[in-house]
Amino acid sequence: MSDKIRIGLAGLGTVGATVAARLLQGAVPRAELVAVSARDAKKDRGVDLSTVDFVATPLDLASHDEVDVVVELIGGENGIALELVEAALEKGKPVVTANKAMLAKHAARLSDLSVGGDVPLAFEAAVAGGIPVIKTVREGLAGNDIHRLCGILNGTCNYILSQMAAAGLSFEEALKEAQEKGFAEADPSLDVSGMDAGQKLAILSALAFGVAPDMDNISVTGIEAITAADIAFAAEFDSVIRLVGLAERSGNGVYHSVEPVLVKKAHPLAQVVNELNAVSISAVPLGGVMLQGPGAGGGATASAVLADISDIASGFGRPLFDSTVAAMTESASSNAPAREFYIRLALADQPGSMAKATQILAENGVSIEEVVQRSSEAGDSHLPVVFITHQAESAALETALAALEQQSEICNAVLALPVFAEED
Ligand SMILES: NC(=O)c1ccc[n+]([C@@H]2O[C@H](COP(=O)([O-])OP(=O)(O)OC[C@H]3O[C@@H](n4cnc5c(N)ncnc54)[C@H](OP(=O)(O)O)[C@@H]3O)[C@@H](O)[C@H]2O)c1
Repeated sequence: MSDKIRIGLAGLGTVGATVAARLLQGAVPRAELVAVSARDAKKDRGVDLSTVDFVATPLDLASHDEVDVVVELIGGENGIALELVEAALEKGKPVVTANKAMLAKHAARLSDLSVGGDVPLAFEAAVAGGIPVIKTVREGLAGNDIHRLCGILNGTCNYILSQMAAAGLSFEEALKEAQEKGFAEADPSLDVSGMDAGQKLAILSALAFGVAPDMDNISVTGIEAITAADIAFAAEFDSVIRLVGLAERSGNGVYHSVEPVLVKKAHPLAQVVNELNAVSISAVPLGGVMLQGPGAGGGATASAVLADISDIASGFGRPLFDSTVAAMTESASSNAPAREFYIRLALADQPGSMAKATQILAENGVSIEEVVQRSSEAGDSHLPVVFITHQAESAALETALAALEQQSEICNAVLALPVFAEED
């Protein structure tokens, strides 16, 4: 028998084809690609697969006599990817996957299968692509008490927001450009809605804090409502807009959010542009660390998959999480920290409308630090106005916004974004 671990690879797309090519080049000396699966056996993948077994369906890899480790690079939270991973784990075969959607949705079942049989389920590629953040949290920060973790976890959104600022594009124009350059899917809804970043945050939080992954515990807001005007207003406050995922100790639990926020240009997260990702972790006794790198793409994601394969080949494989999801004791908290907010609204160009808006905010406990007002466009009866508030509780802000939205004769199109604190 070979002293190398024998790999069965499901999926030969953007990531899988690069992993196949690297394995066949001997990039992981203790691993050997022996079998692959994809829908179309005839498609040219830019790699010579003549020496490997092209099996009829992905499930054949789980039962394949010559496959020791299954690598799942098909994708999708359910369906054949999940069936394959379950079948492999049930047979005691370690699994490597990049599939955050599946992990976030089926964490409980997969952690049972993985821990129950002590079968490694490795997923470095599922969060922040090529950035070794899973390893950092699990290994590099072992012995630390992590109290805060935040970052830019979606390259598509970051590309769109960066290009809206750099080239003055509208959201739609920046999205189209991201699709043309291959940074956004034909259906970008999972990305721009913030769900993709939420799935990654759920996985990171399970590792960092021991909170069972559950998308219902994460307050998720996407970037669809961000306009070129918001980007320009942000610049007036010496800030940029970034989609930031945050998991932070709050009260007796951990607060989670994914939302667009205003970040001062001098802050390290503001320097993370285009398709790059970054994760910043605050921990005791370490202090802080920030990792930055390519968050997606065939090469970056394959890099993380190959690292997991190398670990398993060296005997370093671990279960999905270090305890089963059922044994996780930390709870999610709904207490958002008090923050400053950016509020953009359109006020009727008539006497008293500004006074009425500020009065409504004050009545609800939201005080204003700065105001920027623009003249209305020709033919528009509303003036664009932005308030930066002092720190306010989210509940107070929501009540104030609801009250403003009732004032349809003076105000419409209200958008509120938290301001990322400079010390964060
Ligand atoms: N692309 C990235 O930048 C990136 C970044 C991080 C994580 N990921 C994750 O990596 C995984 C793979 O992504 P990808 O971008 O490489 O996807 P992709 O380009 O769409 O490739 C998917 C592959 O799966 C195969 N496939 C789909 N359904 C199948 C079925 N029923 N039976 C057999 N094969 C099937 C496809 O076969 P055919 O080629 O024959 O159609 C294709 O080779 C996903 O979980 C994704 O979320 C991707």
